Amino acid sequence: MTQPVRVAVVGLGFVGLPLALTYAMKGANVIGIDVLPHVVEEINAAHSHHLESYQGKTLPEILKEQIEAKRFRATSSYEEAAAEVHNYIVTVGLPVHNGDPDLGPLKSCAQSLGRVLKKGDTIMIRSTVVPGTTEDVILPILEETSGLVAGVDFYLTYCSERIAEGRAFEEFIHMPLVLGGINEQSAEKGKELLSFISETDITITDIRVVETAKVIENIQRDVNIAMVQEFARFSEAFGIDTFELIKVANTHTRVNLLSPGPGVGGFCLPNALYYLQPKARELEVNLPILQLARNTNDAVPEVLIGMLEQALKKNGKTLAESRVAVLGMAMKDFSNDDRVSPVHDLIKVLMAKGVDVRSYDPAVPTVYDHKVESLDKAVNGADALILTAVQKEFAEADWAQVAEKMADAPILFDTKNRIPRDLVSKATVVRI
Ligand SMILES: NC(=O)c1ccc[n+]([C@@H]2O[C@H](COP(=O)([O-])OP(=O)(O)OC[C@H]3O[C@@H](n4cnc5c(N)ncnc54)[C@H](O)[C@@H]3O)[C@@H](O)[C@H]2O)c1
Repeated sequence: MTQPVRVAVVGLGFVGLPLALTYAMKGANVIGIDVLPHVVEEINAAHSHHLESYQGKTLPEILKEQIEAKRFRATSSYEEAAAEVHNYIVTVGLPVHNGDPDLGPLKSCAQSLGRVLKKGDTIMIRSTVVPGTTEDVILPILEETSGLVAGVDFYLTYCSERIAEGRAFEEFIHMPLVLGGINEQSAEKGKELLSFISETDITITDIRVVETAKVIENIQRDVNIAMVQEFARFSEAFGIDTFELIKVANTHTRVNLLSPGPGVGGFCLPNALYYLQPKARELEVNLPILQLARNTNDAVPEVLIGMLEQALKKNGKTLAESRVAVLGMAMKDFSNDDRVSPVHDLIKVLMAKGVDVRSYDPAVPTVYDHKVESLDKAVNGADALILTAVQKEFAEADWAQVAEKMADAPILFDTKNRIPRDLVSKATVVRI
């Protein structure tokens, strides 16, 4: 009988934890490594705020099952993991600060891995990276710290991570994969490792193509949304419904317009251009359209606040003297992740204009001064609300009743196409 695969997943965040559990559910012996001791502690206690689920079970339920079956545990010690495994999958991210990707966490991870690397080990990078990072940054660190030769003593491979938060378990198994290796043997090792959980096609190609494809997959969505924002401005001026316009255009089988909203959020889409730019600068390639699209998306909160100001003015109110409820902090609908959420920018601009902001999101655990614990607390007496991300509670809300709790002549600003236009109420519904 073949032995179950032994694998360490490095980085136990939105990608790493469900990925580790997917391997465990398929029968692998998995050890998860994370630098943050409190993350390791929480995970080993079967606690997680992640909203993923699979086959009717929530992530914490799956976590508890896999810990009890002794197929999964977490640690902060690379040494502890190295005593048990020959395969490592890296899901440590590259944060972006002021448009510059920070390779620090990934480099530090490569150093830690290099120190425990053994002959015959396989390392697979799944983080989204600046194209060229696997061969130009990670490989030299691994060789230097381990004293081993890449492609001969150990195998190094890159497979882009394409899951969407909320569908992680399903997509680890069913999303088509692209993989590159620093040599043929590395790619083969990588394919073997992926095949343990993946049931789809695995395309093997040049490692730089895989790294770059991941980044442009995200950028094309950023650009698509920027384009849709321009269409939305046109629709407003023309007096037609943007969402209806997009729905109708998308009936064409070769058109796939995304939805407008309060901007573009999350760890992936807004950061994507900043991963491509350093390489483009090095290669002296200009990317003006991509930068323009990014700027357009960054400016959306300002544009929406301008629209809100106009709507309030029509009702005889000023923005600065208004109380505004912001409903939904998450970077996308039905998510609990508010990293790089455009809603933060929206709130920042509102507050800078003197607005009394009360935000509410039943799924996001992060605490903020402006965040309140219930929909009622957010909307009671508010002059306006802005629906910025959909959560179950908002999807089921009776908006006419919500409007009743607000101040006189309230504005319901819907960036999500969820508030009925024919609301039987004294409220004004504004759509993006
Ligand atoms: N979140 C998504 O939906 C998604 C989708 C596709 C691709 N990605 C990519 O996957 C990668 C991971 O994203 P994420 O959302 O899971 O990030 P995350 O921030 O949720 O998780 C990363 C984890 O790595 C840990 N870490 C940092 N440095 C470490 C080190 N040196 N050693 C061990 N652990 C370390 C952090 O403590 C954190 O828990 C990123 O490159 C991201 O761009 C994310």
